[in-house]
Amino acid sequence: MTSARIAVIGGDGIGPEVTAEALKALTAVAGQDVFDFVHYDLGAERWQRTGEVLPDSVLEELKGVDAIVLGAVGAAPGSKAIPSGLLERGLLLKLRFAFDHAINLRPSKLYPGVPTPLDQRIVAGRDVDFVVVREGTEGLYCGNGGAVRVGTPHELATEVSVNTAYGVERVVRDAYRRAQARRRHITLLHKHNVLVNAGSLWNRIFNEVGEEFPEVERRYLHIDAAMIALVVDPAQFDVIVTDNLFGDIVTDLAAAVTGGIGLAASANINPTGEFPSMFEPVHGSAPDIAGKGIADPTAAISSMALLLDHLGRPELAARIDGAVSEDIAARGAEKLGTVEIGDRIAARLA
Ligand code: NAD
Ligand code: IPM
Ligand code: MN
Repeated sequence: MTSARIAVIGGDGIGPEVTAEALKALTAVAGQDVFDFVHYDLGAERWQRTGEVLPDSVLEELKGVDAIVLGAVGAAPGSKAIPSGLLERGLLLKLRFAFDHAINLRPSKLYPGVPTPLDQRIVAGRDVDFVVVREGTEGLYCGNGGAVRVGTPHELATEVSVNTAYGVERVVRDAYRRAQARRRHITLLHKHNVLVNAGSLWNRIFNEVGEEFPEVERRYLHIDAAMIALVVDPAQFDVIVTDNLFGDIVTDLAAAVTGGIGLAASANINPTGEFPSMFEPVHGSAPDIAGKGIADPTAAISSMALLLDHLGRPELAARIDGAVSEDIAARGAEKLGTVEIGDRIAARLA
């Protein structure tokens, strides 16, 4: 039996809507396990009311939980203008950085019966099932840059990408381990033909660590060419490893070709276990559909499978994955609401 304290940050827009369904699934599958949910009202509304994004006291409290469930943060419709990035940087990225979420795991699987924009000739009879291991604490996300002469014709803005041998090696090693346990194929995505400094660091470490995994076939692809590959032959991928920004971009495309952003789950893993890991859908607050009850909660629900795996309950994780894939197959082209999908999956789990 597991007894776990879970911090819940529903956040903004569709965040709280899909999170409610994720918790419903977690409760339905729990059985003997006990999940204590502690809710935090962080996000746009809290900022508008109090000017707080993530108070230090809350960050301190969050350190003590077993895991964090996050919905999404970002601009809500009709709200007082929120400076772009305020919540993204001040809340979401702050948590990823403070809790050293070096491994950002983003699986993509095309379930049978799921509508995909790809031609059937590309996917029929092929297993499109890969995982992107995105570095989560470095790269262009460090906020390392600045702007001078702002607003003048001579404005100069820089964003500097930070890549450390330590950071690259730990994510690359994690990705190799996953490849070893899967279909033993790994692809590094980068752009070392242009980004020669960071690119050569990534490439060298990828090859060095690869020597320790002789059974894993390794391959490098430039990020631009990889965009073609993901659309014309996504079944070729098993494990993809890449940096923070490339990983952000490639996982939206990966979601799109495997049934849509509403299905894409993610885990932000702290590799040492010193800090809580965080589980969230890949998508954002989707202001265009917020409040309409039509957001797909499947990604948030699938993120609970990643959480259960992380908490050492792979059998419960497998039940969520099973219920999700059965429900997706049963849905077909039917348009269902957020709560309806959540209820159907919870019913399969009960
Ligand atoms: P988005 O992911 O919120 O939306 C992109 C498109 O996907 C929209 O058309 C939206 O309606 C659709 N969509 C997203 N989730 C869906 C779901 N569950 N079901 C059905 N359709 C869904 O990305 P965006 O519009 O670029 O960003 C909106 C806000 O969210 C921004 O403020 C952005 O910074 C923020 N954001 C937050 C996170 C996060 O908290 N993890 C992630 C991405 C974006
Ligand atoms: C994601 C989001 C975030 C990212 C933003 C909102 C900071 O796009 O989780 O994919 O870029 O990592
Ligand atoms: Mn993203």
